[in-house]
Amino acid sequence: MPADSILKHVVVFCLVLSVALTSARAEPGYSSKSTAESVSFRNGMVVSEEQIATLVGLSVLKEGGNAVDAAVAVGFALAVTHPRAGNLGGGGFMLVHLGETGRTVAIDYREKAPLKATRNMFLDENGEVDMERARHSVYSSGVPGTAAGLSLALEKYGTMPLEKVLAPAIRLAEEGFAVTPELRKSLLGAKGRMKKSSESTEVFFKNNGEPPREGEILRQKNLAWSLKEISKNGSGAFYRGAIAKKITAYMKKEGGLITERDLASYEALIREPVTGNYRGYSIHSMPPPSSGGVHLIQMLNILERYPLSRYGHNSARYIHILSETMKLAYADRSKYLGDPDFSPVPTEHLISKQYAKRLANRINPQKATPSRYVKPGSPVPVGGTDTTHFTVADRFGNVVSNTYTLNFAYGSGLAVPGTGILLNNEMDDFSAKPGVPNAYGLIGGEKNSIGPGKRMLSSMTPTIVFKDEKLFLATGSPGGSRIITSVLQVILNVIDHKMSIREATAAPRIHHQWLPDTLYVERKAEKDLEAGLRKKGYEVKRTGPMGSTQSVARISGLFYGATDPRHPGGLAQGY
Ligand code: DON
Repeated sequence: MPADSILKHVVVFCLVLSVALTSARAEPGYSSKSTAESVSFRNGMVVSEEQIATLVGLSVLKEGGNAVDAAVAVGFALAVTHPRAGNLGGGGFMLVHLGETGRTVAIDYREKAPLKATRNMFLDENGEVDMERARHSVYSSGVPGTAAGLSLALEKYGTMPLEKVLAPAIRLAEEGFAVTPELRKSLLGAKGRMKKSSESTEVFFKNNGEPPREGEILRQKNLAWSLKEISKNGSGAFYRGAIAKKITAYMKKEGGLITERDLASYEALIREPVTGNYRGYSIHSMPPPSSGGVHLIQMLNILERYPLSRYGHNSARYIHILSETMKLAYADRSKYLGDPDFSPVPTEHLISKQYAKRLANRINPQKATPSRYVKPGSPVPVGGTDTTHFTVADRFGNVVSNTYTLNFAYGSGLAVPGTGILLNNEMDDFSAKPGVPNAYGLIGGEKNSIGPGKRMLSSMTPTIVFKDEKLFLATGSPGGSRIITSVLQVILNVIDHKMSIREATAAPRIHHQWLPDTLYVERKAEKDLEAGLRKKGYEVKRTGPMGSTQSVARISGLFYGATDPRHPGGLAQGY
């Protein structure tokens, strides 16, 4: 990066920091108990897992752009600065709340199975799931949705031209940016997979096969070319133009399934969010093909029946009720959730209060009910940050809550030659074989079987909570199967336990997903929890950090942001 450009970044950063330091004040409304100091902002707020991307969003807000303009700029910037999850070759979900009309819409830009995909495409000659083929091969990628999703959001709800919101990402790709310790570490972790791809190697492992050192400038000239194509020709460049040509040429060469027809027919969709009520707060979240919103609301409905604040945060009694609720929801997930365009999902039933009452009656208040059908050897990886969430709020009342992903860090590890675009391995989110867990230990059946043109089930849960029709909290998280339970606990921490958004984010999390029948508890949760939980019948497993929530709260007209301290490198910044 030229010296003046570095200087520009530094100046922006210092300016922003000085605003932050001069406007520090305590968060009021959330808590009388809370002693946490926090920083509030009046005009707008951006929270993401990567600092430069947050600052890009903030500069768009300051130039008069709305939350959607800023979110789209952040989305494209993260594809450059946070390549393990920010992407052009993946997909995601965006919830947009429009201040002017009070309406909230859900943009579905989830990847789709290629038209040539078949139900048993990941089974080997013995009928077993071939994990390598499902996760790390040219067959692992669904048809990407990000370019279509971000463009649709901007066109419908933004105010700025695509060229303008893409400009910072293009500059960062072309001129480069200084590699952070987090980026280097994640590249080291994915090196084995990525080095199978000449394009990934060329971009990320030029130093004799090693990733760039901390502080080294990473330039991505092919990615800059792709971004410029989109800037000039819109998302059509990706689906029907010069980028599409390179993707299909690569697929033909490698024997992959994605064709011209797949790309040309891809569309991002606008859906109605799923909505619910929890103790007087109105919850809006992502509908199928994500399972996130349905099960978040289902769990909140069950939990509303218990006086959680009296149990105390993370007491054995509290964790017991949470875990039993989580098991019930994840059991339903395996049976009822899938792409609603292929077979109906009983969303209304799953999120109804009557159903929650019936489910709550199945919870034994004293003892864990053992999960049935536990498959041995269904590893659940330690919650990663291989997806990414960002939240933007502006002074016009608009809010964007966006989660997008390549699935694993750097997706399949494969990148399309000449484009700098890493390909997702989202096909693993389908159920390759009934009853066999995917990478997150999730079991699925018929509803989530592979089918041509079908969207694979997701757990991504971008969510917005309103109080008296005004923004109260917007949040979301990476973390695979743990996304839904991470978002759930941030909401409970704020509403039931009256924590500030920063405390709510930092508080230790637990997770249960029915199968395997294991209660995951973050290592930093209190040491003496185990005994009480074991007595109730749980197999407790301590884990590293789960989720990485990126949240904006609003109290008395002021914005408060929290990036998850579990993963350094993020920034919550307002003005
Ligand atoms: O859509 C989903 O549910 C997954 N593909 C998300 C993957 C994820 O969060 C990876 N990060 N840990």
